[in-house]
Amino acid sequence: MATYKITVNGQRRDVTVDPSTPLLWVLREELKLTGTKYGCGIGLCGACTVHLAGEATRSCGLPVSDVGDQEVVTIEGIGGDRVGRIVQEAWVEKDVVQCGYCQSGQIMAAVALLKVTPRPSEADVEGTMTNLCRCATYVRIRAAIQDASTRLI
Ligand code: FES
Ligand code: FES
Repeated sequence: MATYKITVNGQRRDVTVDPSTPLLWVLREELKLTGTKYGCGIGLCGACTVHLAGEATRSCGLPVSDVGDQEVVTIEGIGGDRVGRIVQEAWVEKDVVQCGYCQSGQIMAAVALLKVTPRPSEADVEGTMTNLCRCATYVRIRAAIQDASTRLI
């Protein structure tokens, strides 16, 4: 066990865990930030996506010992940011969510995309939004991204 100081949603937090513990489980089990979901556990589905130093990152395979001083933002904190707030509003307006399980990760991926590319092409969206959705909300996800894009500029 070791103690790590990590910054999550703007707050410095101490966690004492095994160094190999994935960030996902630190968020969910230690910090009770359960908006970030466990899907596949092998980096494929995107349910566990958070931002690490601003980049969409799958947290299920990232040991907490690799986080260091990089800021972590989760779905609980993304609304504190202008792009995050606009994306969440677009998600509500387009009524994207079905069961909701994948949607935290989808939103985190969409926000990361729009921060770098506020006017994404279809190819940009296809290339970036690789998160899986068992309910197949893909058409509404893409509509919400385009809607958020028009509000950003
Ligand atoms: S749970 Fe991390 S990518 Fe699926
Ligand atoms: S909304 Fe159900 S898995 Fe995506």
